[in-house]
Amino acid sequence: MGTLNGFSQSASVLSHDGVDDRDTLAIRTALEEVLDPDIGRTLGALGAVHSIEVHDDTVHAYLLLHAPLHFVAERINYACKEAISRVVPASSVEIFVQERLPERASNRPLPQVKHIIAVASGKGGVGKSTIAANIATALARKGAAVGLLDADIHGPSVPTMFGLEHAELHGRKNEHGQFIGYPLEKYGVKLVSMGFVMGRDQAAIMRGPMQAGYLSTFIEQIEWGELDYLLFDLPPGTGDIQLTMAQRVPLTGAVIVTTPQNLALADVRRGISMFNRVNIPTLGVIENMSYYILPDGSRDYIFGQGGGERIAQEMSVPFLGEVPLNINIRRGSDEGMPAVLNDQAPLQQKALMELTAKIAAEIRRRSATGQQSPTVEISL
Ligand SMILES: Nc1ncnc2c1ncn2[C@@H]1O[C@H](COP(=O)(O)OP(=O)(O)OP(=O)(O)O)[C@@H](O)[C@H]1O
Ligand SMILES: [Mg+2]
Repeated sequence: MGTLNGFSQSASVLSHDGVDDRDTLAIRTALEEVLDPDIGRTLGALGAVHSIEVHDDTVHAYLLLHAPLHFVAERINYACKEAISRVVPASSVEIFVQERLPERASNRPLPQVKHIIAVASGKGGVGKSTIAANIATALARKGAAVGLLDADIHGPSVPTMFGLEHAELHGRKNEHGQFIGYPLEKYGVKLVSMGFVMGRDQAAIMRGPMQAGYLSTFIEQIEWGELDYLLFDLPPGTGDIQLTMAQRVPLTGAVIVTTPQNLALADVRRGISMFNRVNIPTLGVIENMSYYILPDGSRDYIFGQGGGERIAQEMSVPFLGEVPLNINIRRGSDEGMPAVLNDQAPLQQKALMELTAKIAAEIRRRSATGQQSPTVEISL
């Protein structure tokens, strides 16, 4: 086990009134049987129970859990408290958690970012930027520190989607005379876009090498700070530009957005293959504009049902969910407030929240199965 900053190395037990060594052993056993809902294994099997201490009449349980935890913390906390209360009903319980993160090179770009996700699509116009904006906002709503980088340098959409059309990127010169930019921030999401640097029309005529130059600046010269997630809204397609961008940063994985039509689905295959070729895991497929919600609440699958799910199965990647074709989602994008914040649109909100939770769960699942010796880095 790595260093355990912030809490005791000792797994020994301080016995106090009411709770003795035998109880503590029973508490450990009970905790070890709690299931991690994302990973589908017990805390015991995951080696997640670090230690148990008793202070006065309070049980302190220290856990090591795979990050990111925003969507699952409450459930695990509840399950653990319940398991402990069954052993020592009269004691109060506190659960302390430290995150486990996959081992990574210390000299990688963006060292302060825990999870980097590319949002990609084979085709243009499938709602990739809309979905990226909503995922970022959903994560922030859950308390995560989130950044969204509009890497679609030709056709930036973040300024419109976050109601920041006239905002400009500000910065300072560092000691080497290099420009360091500060992201803008809205709804708790840190934002960088070409739209904050130049007008859409100017951006549209930029050539490849210039685009790549700007993108490097956005990756290397922005003061993102500590982030749980950084999302890249990639330009549509699966060409060299996308591939180069995907390789320039240590991606946790890619999320592919598609619409249900066969033509779009064919491009999903290409997208997943592209990421496979460079060993970037596909975290899953999202089907956007899947169905229309009729006035009676039933769903009309205008473009056919189940296409996204089938293609995900065929390519052996998770299916993350369906997002309805809906005026609140369109309006949210055009009016600068992602639909996931719109409490008047609960069905859309639920669909967007659920797929974001699935992305987080998939990162945790991969983290638990993909690496033997996680490093323990961050204290909660
Ligand atoms: N689920 C949805 N329901 C209704 N409208 C949607 C939905 N998703 C996206 N849209 C609308 O479709 C249009 C295209 O969406 P968006 O710009 O997000 O697509 P994109 O894939 O990023 O496009 P591009 O390829 O140009 O980058 C926008 O007007 C957006 O508001
Ligand atoms: Mg877009």
